[in-house]
Amino acid sequence: MQLGDRNVVITGASRGIGAALARECAARGARVTVVARSAGPLADLATELGGHAVTADLADASVTAGLIARIEDEVGPIDVLINNAGIDLAGGFAELSGEDLERLIRLNVLAVSELTRQALPGMIARGGGHLVMISSLAGSGTFPGIAVYAGTKAYVTHMSEGIRLELKGLPVGLTVVEPGLVRPTDMADSVTSYAPTAACFARFNRLGLLADVDRDTLAHHAVNAIEQGKSHVRYPKRARLFPQLTNAPRRMVALCLAGVPRR
Ligand SMILES: NC(=O)c1ccc[n+]([C@@H]2O[C@H](COP(=O)([O-])OP(=O)(O)OC[C@H]3O[C@@H](n4cnc5c(N)ncnc54)[C@H](OP(=O)(O)O)[C@@H]3O)[C@@H](O)[C@H]2O)c1
Repeated sequence: MQLGDRNVVITGASRGIGAALARECAARGARVTVVARSAGPLADLATELGGHAVTADLADASVTAGLIARIEDEVGPIDVLINNAGIDLAGGFAELSGEDLERLIRLNVLAVSELTRQALPGMIARGGGHLVMISSLAGSGTFPGIAVYAGTKAYVTHMSEGIRLELKGLPVGLTVVEPGLVRPTDMADSVTSYAPTAACFARFNRLGLLADVDRDTLAHHAVNAIEQGKSHVRYPKRARLFPQLTNAPRRMVALCLAGVPRR
């Protein structure tokens, strides 16, 4: 799908990867709607890009309820939904508070599922659309200090591949983005502020299995994937084998389902 004049909604766009995605989409002529909690940075970005800002705490179910319909009332039908908003919890599982645990799952799991659930029927009915799920390499391999975060990303990837099966034959695209550590971002700083997690990244970097991914380069590849209808974006290239291996059983299931009705 070419992005010129398309309505693109990007969650978690007040900074980091989301802001880079918004800039990349706007540079290709899209009308962007940026969503996050920080009203000031969001308004500044919307002004810079000639887009629309929606201040929303997506971890709050009363806020996500009906949110897609409200956005569509304001800007028109959504062509592309980029589910990017996400948080990590730097630290050991045993030290987590119940409150933090719930907040992380509400945002990384429930909000992604709920916004997709709200947006997809309209895309199908209109005969076009594209979903982008910002997952992570952590959905394939986990480190100490990110157990719950990695679990939420495994959910995002696995749910997305299930949705992909249901989209077979329909004009709605789906891209799963699975990056390693992306810089500069607050999340990369947060994750590596916990020494055991930082030590794991350092080991993987020394082994040549990981390398930092540049935020703007990732955004460029992710937006290319929308325009070129690519199913996966995996960086750094050297780590692609991990998600390819974890995706292998899903690919095998998909092949075995050839000819079976999906919807
Ligand atoms: N950075 C990495 O190394 C990395 C690697 C792999 C995958 N990812 C994924 O990439 C996505 C973006 O991460 P990032 O690195 O750009 O993180 P970031 O710099 O911390 O930005 C997170 C974004 O999510 C928004 N957000 C957080 N809580 C929210 C809430 N309750 N409601 C609405 N928006 C909320 C933040 O805005 P407000 O605070 O203004 O709400 C911000 O715009 C995440 O899904 C992350 O898991 C990141």
